[in-house]
Amino acid sequence: MKKIILVLALGISGLGFSQGNTHTQSGGKFEGLAMTPPMGWNSWNTFGTSIDEKLVKETADIMVSSGMAAAGYNYIVLDDGWMAKERDVNGDLVADPVKFPNGMKAVIDYVHGKGLKFGLYNCAGIQTCAGYPGTRGYEYQDARFYAKLGIDFLKYDWCNTKGITAPEAYTTMSNALKTAGRPIVFSLCEWGDNQPWEWGKPVGNLWRISGDIYPCFDCEFKHPENWSSWGFMKIADMRKDIRKYSGPDHWNDFDMMEVGNEMNDTEDKAHFSLWCMLASPLFSGNDYRKMSKETLAILTNKELIAVNQDKLGIQGFKYLAEDGLEVWVKPLSEGNWAVTFLNRSEVSKKINFDWKKYIIKDADFGYEADFNKTVFRIKDLWKNKEAGNTKKNFIADITPHNVITLRLTP
Ligand code: GLA
Repeated sequence: MKKIILVLALGISGLGFSQGNTHTQSGGKFEGLAMTPPMGWNSWNTFGTSIDEKLVKETADIMVSSGMAAAGYNYIVLDDGWMAKERDVNGDLVADPVKFPNGMKAVIDYVHGKGLKFGLYNCAGIQTCAGYPGTRGYEYQDARFYAKLGIDFLKYDWCNTKGITAPEAYTTMSNALKTAGRPIVFSLCEWGDNQPWEWGKPVGNLWRISGDIYPCFDCEFKHPENWSSWGFMKIADMRKDIRKYSGPDHWNDFDMMEVGNEMNDTEDKAHFSLWCMLASPLFSGNDYRKMSKETLAILTNKELIAVNQDKLGIQGFKYLAEDGLEVWVKPLSEGNWAVTFLNRSEVSKKINFDWKKYIIKDADFGYEADFNKTVFRIKDLWKNKEAGNTKKNFIADITPHNVITLRLTP
């Protein structure tokens, strides 16, 4: 009897799940899909809307052959520009037939065949930011479309959303995905405008906390249409107070990386170190077909990735800033800490850090490192070399925009 009632109830609520924002909200995201920050590749930073089947296949091939996949990068995400300008007669989304002549399913099968996962982009508004069909009013239909296609990740943007609110719109899509039944990582991209860290945990697995990244160290790039993109240091500095909202399966997303794009290798190292310290999702945004061996070495540094993927999932924080030198710290599992010295200035600096002068306290998560009570072994993660212990001062030279990232083990 009970079973019959349950089936009936599901049937009725199923009917209620039509398109739009009007039905009762319930349910929530698929839990447990991103217990460590998701890693992969996203097309937007380098390619914008100039994407096609050949690019996806070549990127998937290189993700595997270069060692990126072995290092942990496993999502290939196509951002804006994958769709045709119109839905089909049934209202379904259509892949651009010129860019994807064999359809999206063929591309997804290829990526899955390589042992990788696949993601797509859409937007909560009536159109995407680049003017392709948005999902507003088609949430449940699009969710079924994605589930049927077999995607594993959906990035959901926030352009052209006049008249709707972010918590409602993202909850609707989260419920639609859940109802469609295929576990799909749900990536909220509303740029931190509506404090997604306050309501996003039951809704999505990660959420952007800022406007778009720009391939520079610390600049603001002003677009003519009156919005800005940000150098990675600017993004790292934004929203200092929200680290307590980030953790396993609900990550603050500092945006796709610009490693291998327009900065030099030193700045790329600093960028990667910070994204690891911040427990940010790690989506590479470069052209794999032109990747230098230096870029590959940065993106696949195992020790840095282990800092990012540490199972505690704690977002690090800036502990000290003095005279252009910054010290960022991140509590890790088993009493370890990651420490990054960063030279933000334009001149070389000498580091002479007396550990014993400091007790590092993580006020949000309750971790503490007291170097008078505990001696830590030090490993330099970029040099992949032991570097003594915390009984002695840490002494090093550091060039402009460079980083030294250490793992401390008690
Ligand atoms: C927004 C997002 C970007 C990218 C573009 C696509 O700007 O923040 O990450 O997805 O839209 O149009």
